[in-house]
Amino acid sequence: MRKKIVAGNWKMNKTPSEAIELAKLLKDSDTSKCDVVFCVPAIDIIPVGEVIKGTGIGLGAQNMYFEDEGAYTGEISPKMLVDAGVSYVIIGHSERRQYFAETDESVNKKIKKALEYKLIPIVCVGEALEEREKGIAFEKIRMQVKLAFEGISAADAEKIIIAYEPIWAIGTGKVATDDQAQEVCKEIRNVLNELYGGVSENIRIQYGGSVNGKNAAGLFAMADIDGGLIGGASLKDEFKDIIASVK
Ligand code: PGA
Repeated sequence: MRKKIVAGNWKMNKTPSEAIELAKLLKDSDTSKCDVVFCVPAIDIIPVGEVIKGTGIGLGAQNMYFEDEGAYTGEISPKMLVDAGVSYVIIGHSERRQYFAETDESVNKKIKKALEYKLIPIVCVGEALEEREKGIAFEKIRMQVKLAFEGISAADAEKIIIAYEPIWAIGTGKVATDDQAQEVCKEIRNVLNELYGGVSENIRIQYGGSVNGKNAAGLFAMADIDGGLIGGASLKDEFKDIIASVK
């Protein structure tokens, strides 16, 4: 039985002082039914970590570099994240692929490096609207998953979380239907099954893209959807309604 996981992706929102306020607002989120994670901007990691200490809420980052340390101006290393109390890291979000030249190759390197540091990667995959319209959404996602997991053992694969986020649903208010989301999450599990056999049943797959307090319950009830990666709605009290949607 896979434990559901609801993660907030705060993106580039909240200054350190604003982040403290938001963390205080959300720190009584119910962690009894699912894993709850706040993926916050790098500069907010330390102050938010202080606020959620002892609550059971996990601390996450939104990116990291694939080297331990060195001359990489502006980057954050996994070693820094671990020392700051981080346990999860989003890797390969579509915004990073689109605006910051993240590739399937760098995603794979980052996943391996994160695992080396015992960070739990939340790996994002998803198709663009044109790809869906051309009927190649499955091909795109199969390829992203295969390249992300290249060279990763079954024992490590089990630790990874995948977030299926159709690009056309991110921040648009245009959520995938329960069936559309399930269909792709099922296909992701099929690919994982081809790669790892039965282990695929243990890998958690989230849906992300315009999840809110109203549509979460339907999505989370689907057989292959193990929770959500939440953007906009993770910045408000509504995030608790989303967590409450986990049955
Ligand atoms: P959204 O973002 O919930 O605002 O659509 C989701 C995400 O990009 O992780």
